[in-house]
Amino acid sequence: MVHYTRLSDNTDESLKKFQEPKWSIRIFIFIALLISFSILLTVSYKSMMIPNKFIVRLSGKERAPLKHITRSITKFADYYFTESESRYLNCARLIDGDVESIDTYVNNGRMKLDEEKLFQLSMDCDSIQNRIFRDMPPFEKLKRPIAFVRNIYGIYELQEVFLSISYHPDNYFCYAMDSKSSEKLKKSMRIMADCFENVIVLDKEYDMDRAGHKQDAAHFDCLKQILDEHWSHAITLQNFDLIIKSPKQLSDLSEILNYTSIMGFDYGFTSRYRTFEDWTPAGMKLFKNEQSVPLEILHKKLKIRKSLNEVILSKVFVKSLFDKVNLQNVIKRFDDRTLFGVDEMMVMTLFENYLGLDGQMESNCTVAKEDILTRQTHWHLEQSDGLYQDCKSKWLRHSICVIGVEFLQELSKSPMVIANKVTANFDFGTIICVREMIKTNKTGNNPDSQWLSYFPQFREMLLKANGTYYKNSFQC
Ligand SMILES: *[C@@H]1O[C@H](CO)[C@@H](O)[C@H](O)[C@H]1NC(C)=O
Ligand SMILES: *[C@@H]1O[C@H](CO)[C@@H](O)[C@H](O)[C@H]1NC(C)=O
Ligand SMILES: *[C@@H]1O[C@H](CO)[C@@H](O)[C@H](O)[C@H]1NC(C)=O
Ligand SMILES: *[C@@H]1O[C@H](CO)[C@@H](O)[C@H](O)[C@H]1NC(C)=O
Repeated sequence: MVHYTRLSDNTDESLKKFQEPKWSIRIFIFIALLISFSILLTVSYKSMMIPNKFIVRLSGKERAPLKHITRSITKFADYYFTESESRYLNCARLIDGDVESIDTYVNNGRMKLDEEKLFQLSMDCDSIQNRIFRDMPPFEKLKRPIAFVRNIYGIYELQEVFLSISYHPDNYFCYAMDSKSSEKLKKSMRIMADCFENVIVLDKEYDMDRAGHKQDAAHFDCLKQILDEHWSHAITLQNFDLIIKSPKQLSDLSEILNYTSIMGFDYGFTSRYRTFEDWTPAGMKLFKNEQSVPLEILHKKLKIRKSLNEVILSKVFVKSLFDKVNLQNVIKRFDDRTLFGVDEMMVMTLFENYLGLDGQMESNCTVAKEDILTRQTHWHLEQSDGLYQDCKSKWLRHSICVIGVEFLQELSKSPMVIANKVTANFDFGTIICVREMIKTNKTGNNPDSQWLSYFPQFREMLLKANGTYYKNSFQC
């Protein structure tokens, strides 16, 4: 018995197809059922000859769960799932990588949340705050608060749980919504934001898509909105990004990063921007006040750079961008409706070409450096979405392994800040366990200076701090 079918992005379409199979499909399904039935017979026969501890994995649901594999988590899961749905979620064991717990949870269908099976959540402020932070350890003041800037669509519950993972009264949260989102998401997000002084949902909505359009515009509208608030670094996020470090750890990280920002270094693909345009700052009308900019900078063609959409930006750099740059011009230049993947270049191009901005990179680093801090991702390019054996979780979306409980141990040891991606309707238990990880302080160590020295911008900052930086001899 399959409890929930796996839903594709386009839920309505896939449901329709499922309900009206053609005759040929019906015959095919009949044959497939026959084959699976005979396989099942073989497997259950084999399972009789296999040592006891493997039986759970093969025969799954019919068996009474072993006591120690059953659910042992906080009440938090009950806000979104029935007790029966969460009965195999034992976060402590899953985070430890316990194979038996993982198999039991996975073979019983994981915990999936999709639009068809949501609880009616109480949306008064007291209930919302209860869900988001009342069971977390008491908040200690953060030295360096963080701004989380996220573009969203889909279901509200996912965003509520993401917020509860990073919520701290000192942090800031700004959301921009896809204009095509459901009324339910839009309404719930606005009601929720009204319950917190440090949560903002932009009034303006954006026509976002898979090609990355409007991502930069939305992120920078959010940054502008919270520019005068007290935060030290901002993290730009997309709908399915899972933060895997605690507010305290991120504050510590921000302290080490000081004024620098974290992103990767690579050339922009020429198919992703308009190569024929004038890319000199003068030609782009990049600066608000050209008089104050050296001619050498004004007339030097920018090298188009690329990394990921997720970056960690220092307040110093963001402020300088708003002070000195006509951001609307450069956002528009990259946001070409006819091109794909347009949201992974603008920030890097402005950070990695020296423009005299505060907090940016001064050295001419044209080597490729991957971003090993911001986003943990398992790529499998050229593969289609769906079942994929080479993924630990066996499930692929947009060339990336969707994260399931199989990854929890790795996440709890990872030096990274974000994992991409989780989805609500693949494995919501993973997200709940990451919250548990943060609640129980099992999120590993912070990257230290030595580790961060992998990033040239970080090394450049250290050299500048001790007066030994020489632009022309800097080793990227
Ligand atoms: C951050 O950098 C500034 C400028 O170099 C320096 O004065 C300050 O001491 C640094 N702060 C920390 C915490 O390293
Ligand atoms: C930056 O480095 C690249 C590659 O080494 C080189 O082609 C370019 O001339 C350099 N630009 C400057 C301004 O030094
Ligand atoms: C969390 O764990 C780290 C080291 O693993 C420790 O230094 C820190 O004090 C712990 N924090 C709390 C609140 O227990
Ligand atoms: C300056 O800092 C760099 C990077 O940490 C280090 O390699 C170098 O030895 C330091 N130089 C001095 C004179 O302290």
